[in-house]
Amino acid sequence: MNSPQKPVLVELPDSHRGAIVLGDPGYHRDPAEVFSALRRTYGPVAPVLLVGQVPAWLVLGHRELTQVTTDTRLFARKAARWRLREQLPADWPLWPMLGGGHTESSLLYTEGDEHRQRAGAVSRALASVDPVEFRAQCESRAEDLVDSFAHSGRAELMAHYALLLPVMVMGWALGVPTEEHRDLVAAFTDQLAGGDRALAGHQHIRRTVQALVRRVRERPSADVASRLAADPVGLSDEQLCQDLIVTILAGHQTTTYWMGNSTYRMLVDRRHTDAFIRGRLAVSQALREVLWDDTPTQVFAGRWTSRPARLGHVTIPAGDLILLGLAAGNTDPHLRAEPGGLRGSRAYLSYSHGPHSCPDPARDLAETIVTAGIEVLLDRLPDLHLACPPEQVRWQPSVWMRGLEALPVTFTPTPPTTRYAGGTPWI
Ligand code: HEM
Repeated sequence: MNSPQKPVLVELPDSHRGAIVLGDPGYHRDPAEVFSALRRTYGPVAPVLLVGQVPAWLVLGHRELTQVTTDTRLFARKAARWRLREQLPADWPLWPMLGGGHTESSLLYTEGDEHRQRAGAVSRALASVDPVEFRAQCESRAEDLVDSFAHSGRAELMAHYALLLPVMVMGWALGVPTEEHRDLVAAFTDQLAGGDRALAGHQHIRRTVQALVRRVRERPSADVASRLAADPVGLSDEQLCQDLIVTILAGHQTTTYWMGNSTYRMLVDRRHTDAFIRGRLAVSQALREVLWDDTPTQVFAGRWTSRPARLGHVTIPAGDLILLGLAAGNTDPHLRAEPGGLRGSRAYLSYSHGPHSCPDPARDLAETIVTAGIEVLLDRLPDLHLACPPEQVRWQPSVWMRGLEALPVTFTPTPPTTRYAGGTPWI
C-alpha cells in the first residue's frame, strides 16, 4: 500500500512494486550506500521510483552504462518517447530535468543528425576560448573573491566562492556583460533551490540569454555566444537561446559542486590534503580522484527505450525512462577490482559517455576553473580549516547532484592583494 503522504501519479508496473524512492533522506545522506544496496539486490540495473512514485530504471553497472550511452537508437534522448508523459502533471517538480517545458527544444533532447550538428556547433564555440586568457580570467576573478573575505579569517566557501567563480568566468567567456553576473548568480541559486522563486529564477536566466542573443545578432564579437550564432549550422534564435542556456546551466552546478566536493575532501581527508599541497600536477590528479569517488553528477536523466530492450538481467519495455547512475558506474566493483585500479585514468563516467556526453572543450574549461579556483585558495589561505565537525556538513537534497549546501572554513586573516581595489560587487 502506498502511504497517503506519497501521492501516486501513475499505476505501478509489477516490476516496480517494492522499489525504493530515489531522493529520500537516506539517499541524500549517503547515496553510495543506496547504490551498493541496490546493486546487491538487483544487479547492474535496478527498478527505482522518483517523487510521485514514478517508475524508472537506474543503471548502476559501468558496462551497462557504456551500452546505454553508446546505443543512442535503442536508448534514445527525446522525452516525447516516454509513455508516462501525458499522465504526469505539468507541475511535476522533476520535469525541468526531464525535458519538460521550454527545455524540450534544447540540444539535450535532440537525436541523430540534429544532435550531431548542434552539439558540434557548441563544441566548436567552446573550443574557441583562448585557454591562456581563460586561465588568467579564472585566477584573477578567484583572487578578487578571496580578497573579499581574506581579512575576516572565516568564510562560507560555497556561497562566496564555489558558486560565484564558475558563473563569473563562464559569463565572461559567453559574452554576458559583467554587470549582469550578479543577478544571474541569484537566479541560478533560486532555480537550484527549487522553491517558490525557482520559476522566477529560470525566467530571469531566459531573459538574460534572450538579451544576449539579440546583442550577438546585432553586434557579434569574439565570445562563445557570437561564435555559436555565426556557426554554419544556422541555429534559429530560439535554438541559440536554448543551447546557450544548456551551456550555462550544464557548466554551472557541476563545476561549483566539483570545486566544493574537492575542497571538502582536501579539508577532511589527509591523503587529499597531501595531494593538494604537493604541487600543481597533484592538484589535477586529486581532482580526478574526486570525479571517481565523489562526483557531482550522481544520476543523470535520462534516456528512453525506443523499443523493448535487454539490459543486464532485465527486459525493459519500450518508452520507459532510464536513469544513468554515473556515480555508481564509477564505483562498480567489476571495474575497480584492483585496489586503486583505474584511479589515475579518465575512464570515469562523471561526464557521461558517448555522443551526448559533456563536450571535450567544456571538460577542459571546467578543469581550468576548478584547478585555478583551488590553487588560488591554497596559495592565499594555506591554513584553511573546516569550521565545523565533518559530520555536520549538509549535502544538497538533490536526486541528480551531490554538492554541499555550505562549506564554512576558518583561516589566518590575510590582507587583500595590492591589485584589489576593494568591493567585489557580489557580497
Ligand atoms: C564549463 C563547464 C561545463 C560546460 C560549459 C558544460 C557543457 C555541457 C553541454 C553543452 C552538455 C550537453 C551535451 C549534449 O547534449 O550533447 C553537457 C552535458 C553534460 N555534462 Fe557538461 N559542462 C561543463 C561541466 C561539466 C562538469 C564539471 C561535469 C561533471 C563532472 C559535467 C557533466 C555533464 C554530463 C553528465 C552531461 C550529460 C551527458 C549525457 O546526456 O549523457 N559537465 N555539458
